[in-house]
Amino acid sequence: MTDPTWPLTVNGRRHDVTVPGSTPLVEVLRDQLDLRGTKLVCAVGRCGACTVRVGERAVASCLLPVALAAGEPIVTVEGVSAPDGPLHPVQQALVDCHGVQCGACTPGMVMTMTTYLEQTPADAVDPDTIREALCGNLCRCTGYHGIIDATLRAAGATGAQA
Ligand code: FES
Ligand code: FES
Repeated sequence: MTDPTWPLTVNGRRHDVTVPGSTPLVEVLRDQLDLRGTKLVCAVGRCGACTVRVGERAVASCLLPVALAAGEPIVTVEGVSAPDGPLHPVQQALVDCHGVQCGACTPGMVMTMTTYLEQTPADAVDPDTIREALCGNLCRCTGYHGIIDATLRAAGATGAQA
């Protein structure tokens, strides 16, 4: 039987992908669309390295079948800033606050951080709600302090705490 074709809108571009509907979105992003910024680490929804935005939500793309992502706008780490433009304020803050070491968690962190900042009222941005938002994104290197500091800094840079 022929595999179905799924219309995906990724970082504003339309792609038609022909794969079984149960294929994890992360595999489509990395192997079909060559968007390898999204990392595949645990493959069972535990680490958050594969986090992308689907619609309004930051989701583990290793758990999401492509059939359920079709029709929703998808944003990966490649899509948070212009290819030749400056880093997104969240990315710059991670650099400035030493929130990156090996980098394995960083693309997923960026997607969760940007989603959190876009959806959190300015007066609710604080270390506790940041920790709650990032609880599905594991980092073995930084101890999280730099990542939380970066989120607070980016909140100022993006106007969320204005
Ligand atoms: S690779 Fe998806 S949560 Fe770990
Ligand atoms: S920087 Fe290494 S896992 Fe987070």
